[in-house]
Amino acid sequence: MTALATSELARFPEPQGRPHPDASKGWLRRLWPVVRPTRYLLLVAIVGTMIGMAARTIVPAVLMLAIDNALDEQTDSIAPYAWALAALTVVTAVSGFAARRAMFRVGFRVETAMRHAVFDHLSRMSADFYDRSETGQLLARANGDIRAVQMFLNFGPFMTLSLISLLFALALMLSVSIPLTLVTIIPIPIVAFIGLRSRHPQLPAWWLVMARQADVATLVEENIAGVRVVRNFGGEQHEVARMAGVADQLRWAMVKGADVSARYIPALEHLPRLSLAVVLLYGGLLVEDGTLGIGALVAFSSYVVMVQVPFRFIGHLVQMAQRAKASAMRVYEVFDEPETIVERPDAVDLLAGGSRSGDADGERGGLRGAVAFRDVRFGYGGDADVLRGFTLDIAPGETVALVGETASGKSTVARLLPRFYDVRSGAIEIDGVDIRDATLESLRNTVGVALDDPFLFSMSIRDNIAFADPTASDERVRAAAQAAQAIEFIEDLDDGFDEVVGERGYTLSGGQRQRISLARALLHDPQVLVLDDATSAIDVRVEEKIHAGLREATADRTVIVIAHRLSTIALADRVVFLDAGVVAATGTHEELMRSEPRYQELLEHLEEPGPEPGHEPGETPDGEVG
Ligand SMILES: Nc1ncnc2c1ncn2[C@@H]1O[C@H](COP(=O)(O)OP(=O)(O)OP(=O)(O)O)[C@@H](O)[C@H]1O
Ligand SMILES: [Mg+2]
Repeated sequence: MTALATSELARFPEPQGRPHPDASKGWLRRLWPVVRPTRYLLLVAIVGTMIGMAARTIVPAVLMLAIDNALDEQTDSIAPYAWALAALTVVTAVSGFAARRAMFRVGFRVETAMRHAVFDHLSRMSADFYDRSETGQLLARANGDIRAVQMFLNFGPFMTLSLISLLFALALMLSVSIPLTLVTIIPIPIVAFIGLRSRHPQLPAWWLVMARQADVATLVEENIAGVRVVRNFGGEQHEVARMAGVADQLRWAMVKGADVSARYIPALEHLPRLSLAVVLLYGGLLVEDGTLGIGALVAFSSYVVMVQVPFRFIGHLVQMAQRAKASAMRVYEVFDEPETIVERPDAVDLLAGGSRSGDADGERGGLRGAVAFRDVRFGYGGDADVLRGFTLDIAPGETVALVGETASGKSTVARLLPRFYDVRSGAIEIDGVDIRDATLESLRNTVGVALDDPFLFSMSIRDNIAFADPTASDERVRAAAQAAQAIEFIEDLDDGFDEVVGERGYTLSGGQRQRISLARALLHDPQVLVLDDATSAIDVRVEEKIHAGLREATADRTVIVIAHRLSTIALADRVVFLDAGVVAATGTHEELMRSEPRYQELLEHLEEPGPEPGHEPGETPDGEVG
């Protein structure tokens, strides 16, 4: 077994910038902190574009002088004009190349920075945010929406500058013939008017498109993740129908958006072409009069085509800007979600007093692992309290079994300890320190949680176990797998510890996944270990072995086990009976059986399938459930 390359993970660097936090600012202003680090590239792009456009605008003027002076009047030689045209072409090509290259770099760097910043922000968001959010929505914002902003950054400045180059062309044209210039620019106000009018209906349309795309993503994500449930309950037809509905709504929004565009874009594109005819007609008259040279007429016919180019763009520019704005605002919404679980500036290190060595049985500094819940009240979101004055003292090294009916709040207790959520009132203390006063890193190094439905990543078993510490030695990984009774089945796999598990670990059985998750928690080596039904899918025989291993591994640890089985409860020094969010009774299992009728009743129900612990039927030898 070799240590994998992923053991040397790069440190997560700070994002290049984050959008400005002030939500009242315009979307481009808010974007500036992300663009700022690329400002020199942006400058190259802008200057390069301007030079290129100036050169291109001069070309018809040179042509005009060549025709009027060298060909018509034959006062000059034609050669210098030809050279000038060649030089201008080179300037246009070189500056255009430099500008585009720089512009694309700006766009892609900003895209990367935004994605980085979004992910960084998401990684800080607390559990309540994820309770509320849909995965597809977040995915869409981290992908499609950021891409729309990048597209605008790649093309937007270029298009805007081409509008500015129009002014330069205008100045040149005015110097040649004022009346003909006026004729050439007649359509501009009309086009600008239409372009501006199209702004308002476009924003909601594109907003809707992006939102509907996210709906589709959510449904696809849900169906792929939940494919087993869908199959099992024959939900395919229903889900396909749902997808058809969502896809149809997306189609509607896209058609709506396209309708709005279709109404304006052709007008924007074709109106300037009409003016070519007008220029020919009116300019021709001026030439016949002798007030205008042929060269000037040729130049003007080029300019008419040239001024129409930015107007062909203006529709796209407006549309792209609207899309980018809609998308940027959706991305900002993610940033504007406050981080609810934050570290105090003067937070203390729970492990303080000694440095934590990476070794499995290393020193944990001054940490003892006394856990105290003091009159804790907590409920999810705006819901009623789940815990209603939960008070419990757990001594360092003690193993406590938390027992209670379903939905009594056991898992909630497990989620509060690592501060996935903050209590509404009361406090949770570790070694007398309110966990809200501790650094998040030290808290999460102190508290380890293993869940009943563990999430495994689609990577090797070794990397899954060593998730908390990718640099862990192979010995530590094996020791953790041994303690979790996982080593036998791992070694039976084709690639052993290097076997890559399928997405979410679904190529393993439920019991196997639980054991990997347990090994992961053990390798994390927390002083306070919470096992939330962490062995529920493992058959009793293997569970007993795990407990034997755990007893050693947990000798000096504080352990909270949430259990539904007598065999698991037997592991504990003390049983805490949770009823409707408060501690109804505590004591040994025998004491509670005698003194607490509700506990007795609950356990009778729990043990119904098999009265004797250790002989539960309905379990396959390897805990292969689901
Ligand atoms: N993320 C959540 N958002 C909103 N409500 C929640 C959330 N998680 C749990 N609840 C609610 O909190 C209550 C307690 O749930 P909890 O998961 O703590 O129960 P439990 O004692 O662990 O039950 P079980 O034995 O079934 O695992 C339940 O009524 C549940 O509906
Ligand atoms: Mg639970």
